[in-house]
Amino acid sequence: MGEHGIAEASDAAIVATDLSKWFGEEETRKLAVDRVNFVAYFGEMLFIVGPSGSGKTTLLSMLSGILRPNAGTVTVKGRNIWELSEDQRADFRLNSIGFVFQDYHLFPRLTTAENVAIPLILQNRDWKQSIADACRYLEIVGLKGRNQILPVKLSGGEQQRVAIARAIASNPEILILDEPTASLDGDTGRMIIEFVKTRILSRERCILIVTHDARINDYADRIIHMEDGRLVSVEQVAK
Ligand SMILES: Nc1ncnc2c1ncn2[C@@H]1O[C@H](COP(=O)(O)OP(=O)(O)O)[C@@H](O)[C@H]1O
Ligand SMILES: [Mg+2]
Repeated sequence: MGEHGIAEASDAAIVATDLSKWFGEEETRKLAVDRVNFVAYFGEMLFIVGPSGSGKTTLLSMLSGILRPNAGTVTVKGRNIWELSEDQRADFRLNSIGFVFQDYHLFPRLTTAENVAIPLILQNRDWKQSIADACRYLEIVGLKGRNQILPVKLSGGEQQRVAIARAIASNPEILILDEPTASLDGDTGRMIIEFVKTRILSRERCILIVTHDARINDYADRIIHMEDGRLVSVEQVAK
């Protein structure tokens, strides 16, 4: 048993224990995430689903070291991330977490290769080498030879693939995607998730996907259902 009384298998990527977050003061206090407990394992694609406002983004923000919980702990690979110093947590985010946002968050005035190279440059790597590596990641996501163009020239699905290339460029063990298919048509959305499952997921990686999109549920290994800030059930997806 681990320090929280939860079995912490060596393949546990993230352990959330009694995790809570509220916003506002006293009477107006809103409990966005309410004592959530779960384990995410390496080698799995774990979906988090629930209605709008059920606390999914707030939960992801706490898991990825962006938003400090009011109560509970987040342990990533055995380290309590909210006990790290600010600098250590910034390093943790840069090196261990890749984040893909719903609307891509690409820099419009940077080329695709420059967008993908950003995390590498933040890791103080050589500029030229970072751009060369970025081109390799663009190739992995099926955008070979499209290194020099601005994001606006790409379709939504292609921009999402650039965002995925950027998220995996620093080779993070944990990849988090918040509503990755929400801005895409159904077929493109399925293609993106299929790509993530077959090409990005590995035994050394854990992938968390928040989604509203029931059409992609069969790609999940397990599904966490959230309602009103609470985890209401964990579903094992039959294969
Ligand atoms: N920064 C914030 N300030 C105040 N309330 C917030 C903030 N972020 C989220 N909330 C509230 O917390 C609840 C959960 O929000 P969120 O995590 O964004 O849900 P979801 O991603 O499932 O749609 C909502 O009621 C939302 O209004
Ligand atoms: Mg959200």
